[in-house]
Amino acid sequence: MKTALGTVLISQEDIRHRILEIGRQISSDYAGRAVTLVAILKGSFVFLADVIRAISPEVPVELDFMAVSSYGDATTTSGTVHIEKDLGISIDGKDVIIVEDIVDTGLTLLHVYNILSARGARTLRVATLLEKPGKSKYDRPLDYVGFKIPNKFVVGFGLDYAQRFRNLPDIRVLDEV
Ligand code: IMP
Ligand code: MG
Repeated sequence: MKTALGTVLISQEDIRHRILEIGRQISSDYAGRAVTLVAILKGSFVFLADVIRAISPEVPVELDFMAVSSYGDATTTSGTVHIEKDLGISIDGKDVIIVEDIVDTGLTLLHVYNILSARGARTLRVATLLEKPGKSKYDRPLDYVGFKIPNKFVVGFGLDYAQRFRNLPDIRVLDEV
């Protein structure tokens, strides 16, 4: 497929402001307790870097990473997930926020949610920079959403196409040409 970078869908300024709001919301929701962020590699790393610094220093924050790949057809929730990189910490009894770049079908998120839930997380919430309209597989509410976007393929701010474009400072549509 030949691709070309399209228009800017969300500017760096808008992203920055929205992430500061999310950070404030998390700081108020977790005031007086600790929170463990579980970031899903690789796409979430730029969002994570900003959101973690937007959380108040009063909130004790713990961080770890997971990398997963999901295989499964798009019409059932029975797809399986392969853990490419697992957590190095226990999340048993902890208040966890899963940090994602984008929720599309929701299959990745569903799998990660089920894994972390089975490992005894006390509470589990989700922060995602972007949400696409699909989301059919994950039926719980998304707790912290940066932006709802149309059903287009986007890159930048950590998101890739074939491992490219993660370095773009804003979020752009990738057009087929
Ligand atoms: P889901 O399992 O269908 O929700 O897919 C989530 C994953 O697919 C994300 O973590 C991204 O890696 C990838 N993805 C889905 N839509 C896009 C997009 O528009 N741009 C870049 N990656 C995407
Ligand atoms: Mg991803």
